[in-house]
Amino acid sequence: MATLAPVDPAISEPDPAALIAARPHLRMDARDGLLLDGVPLAAIARDLGTPTWVYSAPTLLARYRQLRDAMAETGLDAHIHYAVKANDHRAVLSLLAREGAGADVVSGGELRRARAAGIAAAQIVFSGVGKSEDEMRLALAENIAQLNVESAEELAMLSALATAMGRTARIALRVNPDIDAGTHAKISTGRARDKFGIPYAEAAALYAHAARLPGIVPVGVATHIGSQILSLAPFRAAYQRIAALVGDLRAAGQSVAVVDCGGGLGIPYRDEIAPSPAGLAAVIRNAFAALDVSVKLEPGRWLVGPAGLLLARVVLQKQTGAARFVVLDAAMNDLIRPAMYEAWHGIVPLSPVALHAPCTEADIVGPVCETGDTFARGRMLPDLPPGALVALLDAGAYGAVMSSTYNARPLAAEAMVGGNSYAVIRPRQPIEALWGEEILPPWLDAPRA
Ligand code: LLP
Repeated sequence: MATLAPVDPAISEPDPAALIAARPHLRMDARDGLLLDGVPLAAIARDLGTPTWVYSAPTLLARYRQLRDAMAETGLDAHIHYAVKANDHRAVLSLLAREGAGADVVSGGELRRARAAGIAAAQIVFSGVGKSEDEMRLALAENIAQLNVESAEELAMLSALATAMGRTARIALRVNPDIDAGTHAKISTGRARDKFGIPYAEAAALYAHAARLPGIVPVGVATHIGSQILSLAPFRAAYQRIAALVGDLRAAGQSVAVVDCGGGLGIPYRDEIAPSPAGLAAVIRNAFAALDVSVKLEPGRWLVGPAGLLLARVVLQKQTGAARFVVLDAAMNDLIRPAMYEAWHGIVPLSPVALHAPCTEADIVGPVCETGDTFARGRMLPDLPPGALVALLDAGAYGAVMSSTYNARPLAAEAMVGGNSYAVIRPRQPIEALWGEEILPPWLDAPRA
């Protein structure tokens, strides 16, 4: 079972005021408390209850435009395909669709969602190590831009299905460049021992094989080495290998029009120095500008992570001989990242008074019956009496999408801020919905005599 890393007292943590100061979309107002792009979060918590996810449309748009512009400045023919898995709410997808973003999907469900949000099939790429036949059929019927194929076995399945349907599958081979992205082991995808992609040494032969298969047109190569990557070096190493492969393929007479660079650009959750979109764009330009390819990027976290937060209320504070525990009404079923990846999320009070009150160490936990249901350990925070409101920061990516109803806790409400107000984009799940679709076997359903 995952345990949280012990707190190292030598590493000073940013205090709530520093966390707010480092995020342009957050501001502490002396009267209204913490504002997300000008909208008081306490009012949202009061209106909708807690826990509630809140996303900022202006922040999401600003980040999309920053990344798009950085890519445009490379002079490459570049396309952004938002990784739907990071946050698949239709409001998020529609917002990005209106800006012209495409989508990277990893399931038939995500493909249907992206289409429902108005993303054109011609702007959708389908990634994933195990696409089912039904999912491939859907992708072929929709005639999406590209399927990123991860194995010879998948290629054979796709060729048979496409031929039977009288369709052509444009494919990119997802190549595993055997590069360690230097991120958490559970979200590293580009090492030889990871399940993803085609071994680098086998890629050229498989590409030539693909070009001969009926129903298949190879258009390029793809790679994705992991997520929350905080250094440009692994990107540089991976893209250099991919560029060399493109050269080899062309020398062998293959046509290669597309390089899909994957996602993975990290964000500062704590006080990490993260690479900028311009930095990543420069790495991509250096690797591919001379090759005359069109470039795709599949960012998820960088776009939507900082644009969202999770509002929670303090249920109670409990003091044991060992620690002060602040028990929230949000839990690991809502935001699983700390339990699953030892992830660090900033936690800040919504009240301006609390922000300047003296701090002591506290463990911030949820009410779920697992020790892993711990958001933070040894965090310097003020007194947080029952009813106090807090925000868990940078929770827009891999937050709501990874929620469950463990401990019979309904899915939290979701709201989106924009234009100085907010809109409910998903009401809190009614408790009855938790068992509404369950069916008792007939021998249990009969009234007891
Ligand atoms: N493309 C592919 C093929 C991917 O597998 C992923 C993420 C992305 C793009 C987007 O990566 P991003 O830009 O968001 O780093 N649940 C984990 C992260 C899992 C990432 C899975 N793949 C977390 O909460 O940290």
